[in-house]
Amino acid sequence: MTVRRSQIAGCGSYLPERVITNEEMAKLVDTSDEWITARTGIKRRHIAAEGEKTSDLALRASTSALAAAGMSVDELDMIVLATATPDETFPATATVVQAELGMSHGFAFDVQAVCSGFVYAMAVADNFLRVGQAKTALVIGAETFSRILDWSDRGTCVLFGDGAGAVVLKSEMGNGNVDDRGILSTRLHSDGRKHDMLYVDGGPSSTQTTGHLRMLGKEVFRHAVKNLSSVVQETLEDAGLDASDIDWLVPHQANKRILDSTAKKLKLSPDRVVVTVQDHANTSAASVPLALDQATTDGRIKKGDLVLMEAMGGGFTWGACLARW
Ligand code: ACO
Repeated sequence: MTVRRSQIAGCGSYLPERVITNEEMAKLVDTSDEWITARTGIKRRHIAAEGEKTSDLALRASTSALAAAGMSVDELDMIVLATATPDETFPATATVVQAELGMSHGFAFDVQAVCSGFVYAMAVADNFLRVGQAKTALVIGAETFSRILDWSDRGTCVLFGDGAGAVVLKSEMGNGNVDDRGILSTRLHSDGRKHDMLYVDGGPSSTQTTGHLRMLGKEVFRHAVKNLSSVVQETLEDAGLDASDIDWLVPHQANKRILDSTAKKLKLSPDRVVVTVQDHANTSAASVPLALDQATTDGRIKKGDLVLMEAMGGGFTWGACLARW
């Protein structure tokens, strides 16, 4: 059976120049490198410069993804940008990137699923490509979480960083089996009843302010491991595969302990898991494409590898995307 598949044609990423180490964080709030490392695995994070916007990071990641794919802007049909920290309330940051890329055709829009945003955006773009409404897509995860942190709250400000990653998808015909290159399955979930566990206490229609991130860390941790291992299983079952078939697990980089617990639940060896949280902290929707770009650039992820991306975030939202590279 011939089917349309969304093949990954190239990846790119961008991190702001400024790095803040745990030692520097300890000068801002009552914390220590030992506490942050032991509880999260984070050692440092990149923080956007004054005036540097989410669209600026997204543009740099997009340009390098297009170069890696060997494609020009003229060949792009659509842009989906996942972010919880848009430049403005409207228009969508995706349209800012569209203009800056010099793209005057096609369509661009944002997806809001916080840390699951990139996986949601991949699923959305894959569906556009599989029905034939677009032949190519630029999928971006870009965030400036430093702008919504309460820098006096040590329980949250040490956990996040800024950055952007992007992939270019290209529609190709496959045979409908698991050896096809491209996205094999995606699964999305949300549970709006968990709002109070992770949210931003501001917004245009509630407070007319931007607000700050608020989180019940222990509750988030408990749900993350349970939801992530179950959505990974669902995505594998859809494709008739199991965890032992995975070459690379590319998880949302929230916390090293969540990554380790999820890998353990799936009986995956730690050397099959791409981990960047020590260098990037939690970059929300940018974390999966940043990790993808790192692991393809350093040669770990190779053509033909089975790659499983997963994420969970505020909402709660969670999801997974299984792809043959
Ligand atoms: N430095 C030093 N001490 C701290 C810090 C800090 N940065 N933050 C909190 N503490 C203190 C607390 O005040 C508390 O002190 P007390 O016992 O005197 O009251 C103590 O450390 C323990 O606090 P807890 O919140 O219970 O610490 P916990 O072991 O739960 O670790 C953490 C907190 C790291 C946030 C953990 O709950 C976690 O990893 N949760 C997952 C959250 C997450 O990753 N969120 C990301 C967004 S969601 C997502 O991306 C999936």
